[in-house]
Amino acid sequence: MPLSLTPLRIGPVEVRNRIAMPPMVRLAPHASPEVIAGEGSVTDHLVEHYARRARAGVGLIIVEATCVHPLGRVWRHGLNAYDDAHVPGLASIARAIAAEGALPGIQLVHGGPQADPALTGGVTLGPSPVAPSVGEPEPRELDLGQILDIQRAFIEAAVRAHEAGFRFIEIHGAHGYLLDSFVSPIRNHRTDAFGGSIENRMRMLMDIVMRIKDCVRDGAAVGARISVFTHTAEGFGESELRAMVRSLTEAHSDFVDLSVDRVLTHAFGTDRSMGQAARAATNVPVLVAGGLSSGRDCEQVIAEGHGDIACVGRAMLGDPDWAQGAIAELRG
Ligand SMILES: Cc1cc2nc3c(=O)[nH]c(=O)nc-3n(C[C@H](O)[C@H](O)[C@H](O)COP(=O)(O)O)c2cc1C
Repeated sequence: MPLSLTPLRIGPVEVRNRIAMPPMVRLAPHASPEVIAGEGSVTDHLVEHYARRARAGVGLIIVEATCVHPLGRVWRHGLNAYDDAHVPGLASIARAIAAEGALPGIQLVHGGPQADPALTGGVTLGPSPVAPSVGEPEPRELDLGQILDIQRAFIEAAVRAHEAGFRFIEIHGAHGYLLDSFVSPIRNHRTDAFGGSIENRMRMLMDIVMRIKDCVRDGAAVGARISVFTHTAEGFGESELRAMVRSLTEAHSDFVDLSVDRVLTHAFGTDRSMGQAARAATNVPVLVAGGLSSGRDCEQVIAEGHGDIACVGRAMLGDPDWAQGAIAELRG
């Protein structure tokens, strides 16, 4: 039996195989207009979008970045989990995924400096007033009370996601959104407990993971997605990656999801990939995504120790039945 088709325990839950659909918001041209439709609402097309990929045999489906706070919204048509009214729609997605035998997962996000001002009343928030890129608005620096409010919003959203039936809850700590901005020494100039050393800059993410774990207990695996490649221009290397992974492990994360440019390439000038470096720093499963497009790629990732779960993004968006073909290829 190929390793990628064997089950794996992730904290309190188990997946039937090690192939996953990573979180992907619905953007043209990657998604059809019917699937994109609706401002934050869950449509039948959207439920089927996820159910179909689960039916094809994927082990874990991580539903797209879902906003935890109205001031953290990034995509007009994106999903939200900041109100109890969002629970029934989310539950219909989780139910449909579970009915097809896949583990229903969800990613939770606060856009921070990358929130869409058109959706947030013109306000964006961040660890420090540093614009995400030239020409974009400077976010307002969060005070301690607002930091605690945002932590609470993540926890309440996670509890709603759990109530909705999700058994894998991923906090989005990558790609320049709020929690990744805390990690960045360029975007975070704070001098309090949330700024300075890499451990301090990871504190916002760690606090959230720890407190969510406390709330959902054994009801769901809880962890985070991080990316190092967004920070390589800031001098990040293997020691920073190790520190990030160690912080998440200390926060009792059940997994670490590593978003990298290309999973199978070497990193930081060594002959190891980022996935191998991350795995060496933790004993929890590491998910990796980036450039995987065949069943053979997934098997190679796992057999060579780049990751414990292989996430396939664009290939699976392009072909909803991708997993069926990949699994048939792997079974030979
Ligand atoms: C249309 C699209 C939407 C995405 N949305 C998200 C998202 O919501 N959250 C996230 O962490 N990554 C997101 N990503 C990144 C993917 O999860 C994945 O890491 C990336 O596409 C690399 O994997 P691939 O080479 O298999 O596509 C998105 C990617 C695409 C193409």
